[in-house]
Amino acid sequence: MITIIGAGKVGSAAAFNILRYRIGDVVLIDVFENLAKGEALDMMQTAPAIEFDGKIKGTSDFSEMKSSDLVIVTAGEARKPGMTRIDLMNQNAKIIKSLVEEVVYYAPGCKLMVVTNPVDIMTYIAYKESGFERNRVFGMGNILDALRFRSYIALELNVSREDVRALVIGEHGDSMVPLVEYAAVSGIPIISLLNKSQIKKIVDLTISSGADVIKLKGSTTHAPAAVIAIMADAIIRGRNRVMGVSTYLQGEYGCSDIAIGMPVVLGKSGVERILELKLTPETKKRLQKSVSTIKEAIKN
Ligand code: 2OP
Repeated sequence: MITIIGAGKVGSAAAFNILRYRIGDVVLIDVFENLAKGEALDMMQTAPAIEFDGKIKGTSDFSEMKSSDLVIVTAGEARKPGMTRIDLMNQNAKIIKSLVEEVVYYAPGCKLMVVTNPVDIMTYIAYKESGFERNRVFGMGNILDALRFRSYIALELNVSREDVRALVIGEHGDSMVPLVEYAAVSGIPIISLLNKSQIKKIVDLTISSGADVIKLKGSTTHAPAAVIAIMADAIIRGRNRVMGVSTYLQGEYGCSDIAIGMPVVLGKSGVERILELKLTPETKKRLQKSVSTIKEAIKN
């Protein structure tokens, strides 16, 4: 069973993706009970059209998360136009702390996925507050950045998005690090297909992409919701997928006491392992900047 805390746009769209891809039953929890119940009812009524049998329950009762394999926290203030993710830090830190207490009490054996922004800092807080092993607490961010990176590479080259594979690491924020040197189209490195200014344009678009959507429609929904389902699928089905996930570091990439996006293998136990890649000097510099941005924010 999968619990989603927060029945706002992202939480409820993620619940729907999890159901329609038959990943598991979902409990949707929100302090606004009617919102959670209403979303659940709406999804239940959609089931015959999409033909899924998964159960969905909407509630404001935290005890309903009991025996969840995976708890996904999407609750919190969302970014408004003009805000960075870090601007949300103080108000959302309080929310995460109190939600993590509920998770530890009712679902002490779960994997805990943090979605609330700024996700790297909220993941750090969730890890520290939960006392869980570090593989069980991780944040969704970089894989979303990678979807955007892949989309813009495909657009620039006019090739199928399916054939573009790429990773983004670092902060899920303005200092994110798209790994240009590892991005490829069916195994062909993009550095042999695109020139420097095309690559710069793609990297810039990737970094601003979340804000670009927020400027137009107030929030991002479909991309984060899809990514949550992809991560849930990797964990529940033990698929050991390779993706960028915010994870607590203990010496990897020369960093400690920080949660930041890294390439990991995501499977049954959560973060099965962190992949340490060789990075170019330029990428190392960008990653260092990302690390300092997060460390600075944590200190605050
Ligand atoms: C995004 O980038 C909400 O951080 C999330 O869409």
